[in-house]
Amino acid sequence: MALFGKKPKQSEVSELVLPKHVGIIMDGNGRWAKKRGLPRKAGHTEGARTFRKITRYCSEVGIKYLTVYAFSTENWRRPEDEVGALMKLFKSYLEEAISDFKDDDIVVRFIGDKSGFSPELQALMDENEECSRERDGMVLNIAMNYGSRDEIVRAVKRIASDVKDGKISEDEITEQLVSDNLYTAGQPDPDLIIRPSGEYRISNFLLWQSAYTEFVIMNKLWPDFQKSDLDEALQIYAQRNRRYGGV
Ligand code: IPE
Ligand code: IPE
Ligand code: MG
Repeated sequence: MALFGKKPKQSEVSELVLPKHVGIIMDGNGRWAKKRGLPRKAGHTEGARTFRKITRYCSEVGIKYLTVYAFSTENWRRPEDEVGALMKLFKSYLEEAISDFKDDDIVVRFIGDKSGFSPELQALMDENEECSRERDGMVLNIAMNYGSRDEIVRAVKRIASDVKDGKISEDEITEQLVSDNLYTAGQPDPDLIIRPSGEYRISNFLLWQSAYTEFVIMNKLWPDFQKSDLDEALQIYAQRNRRYGGV
């Protein structure tokens, strides 16, 4: 159930003003498992199923860019066995993903610091990017070991080094240049960010890019998230009045 807005009828979705870029903070896996008396990792397994289903659906309804938050730079703080279970899940997912999303024409990209993962996982991430590069459907950014502050620091360092080397002057540092040095370079800013699980926070996700993003918080745990919940978020988005500081 959404905290704001009415539930749309399926038929209404195709008539909506669609966001070009949607972000999803896939949250609530642990609570989903706890409610069932299961270990947290069971929630992550179920969350991965939801991820596949909702990603395909986003592509079907005509979203051009989807960014999903899968693992943050802060998630390493979790107990070792939970982090271990997540790495195992990423590995099995990435092995299957090489062929997954092929029929949907989805371009897979990873945003975040890949160097934090094992060489095996990094190779799988590279392979997924490589084999989907030529597709021309929806761009799927999977945020893994992603933290927006880390991303901004990385961009600042790159720009500082270019100034130091005389490649650019200080005057050439613009908002556009900062955007061009983020992981999402060349992509439009997210129009809509959906956070299931009822938490009202951004948790270090797309801080720079979300300056004028619309937020929809949904009171549902990610493993329970259905296509109809996405429809509902799109409907709420379509009713928003975006002003960008104007009137
Ligand atoms: C999101 O679900 C998945 C990751 C952060 C990897 P959580 O694991 O944060 O689930 P809750 O928020 O504890 O319920
Ligand atoms: C955000 O969820 C990160 C992901 C969904 C991958 P968290 O569960 O880590 O965020 P907090 O701790 O509730 O802010
Ligand atoms: Mg959480």
